[in-house]
Amino acid sequence: MTTPASASRSPLWRSIRADLARFREEGPGLRPTIRGALSQGFHALIVYRVFRWFYERGIPTQPVRFVVERCVEITTGISIPVMARVGPGLRIHHFGGIVFHPEVVVGADCTIYHGVTLGDMGVATGAPRIGDRVMIGAGAKILGPIEVGDDAKIGANAVVLTSVPEGGLAVGVPATIKSRPGFRHESYASRAQARSAERG
Ligand SMILES: CC(C)(COP(=O)(O)OP(=O)(O)OC[C@H]1O[C@@H](n2cnc3c(N)ncnc32)[C@H](O)[C@@H]1OP(=O)(O)O)[C@@H](O)C(=O)NCCC(=O)NCCS
Repeated sequence: MTTPASASRSPLWRSIRADLARFREEGPGLRPTIRGALSQGFHALIVYRVFRWFYERGIPTQPVRFVVERCVEITTGISIPVMARVGPGLRIHHFGGIVFHPEVVVGADCTIYHGVTLGDMGVATGAPRIGDRVMIGAGAKILGPIEVGDDAKIGANAVVLTSVPEGGLAVGVPATIKSRPGFRHESYASRAQARSAERG
């Protein structure tokens, strides 16, 4: 499986700046940025980013992290463990019900609405890898060691159990892939296979 390069270690301030930049998509001026910076999603993300910074450098933060993470879960309804790898520019809309598995990888500039779970299948199956610029609609569950390609869209309330190709649209329970004009529907998995075949 490939890992979005954007999800690998990046300077704390660069990630936070990219997170803040997402608010400017809502319009000019400072107002959208201030509104976004006051949102629960951003607060949960900042806490994740700060503790992730320490985690990547092997600097112990327990038991402070445990207490702060519980407070964040209670006040925002959002759980992003420090082991998850989240690329810069994540936009979390609305309050609560958002749970990331510790093994999740999320690329850059993704958008997540409330009620989203990125998790395993209930046993230790591994967790999804999400590409760049993926939109995950409210209530969607993406489960298991699958890949969601760059620029994919996951419809509200979809339960995604199979990989979604780059630019794909996954909707329904269990989710089916619908085509979106203008995108090549070639899965990450098949591209990875082709690449390893090329390498011999
Ligand atoms: C998936 C979504 C992004 C639409 O993407 P799109 O590329 O514009 O897709 P379309 O609207 O053209 O729909 C394509 C097909 O998927 C279906 N579809 C779209 N969203 C769906 C959903 N959430 N569940 C089931 N089917 C859905 C459409 O009915 C259509 O079906 P058809 O091909 O049989 O006609 C949008 O419907 C969605 O679910 N957005 C989530 C937004 C959200 O969570 N908002 C919360 C705000 S608080």
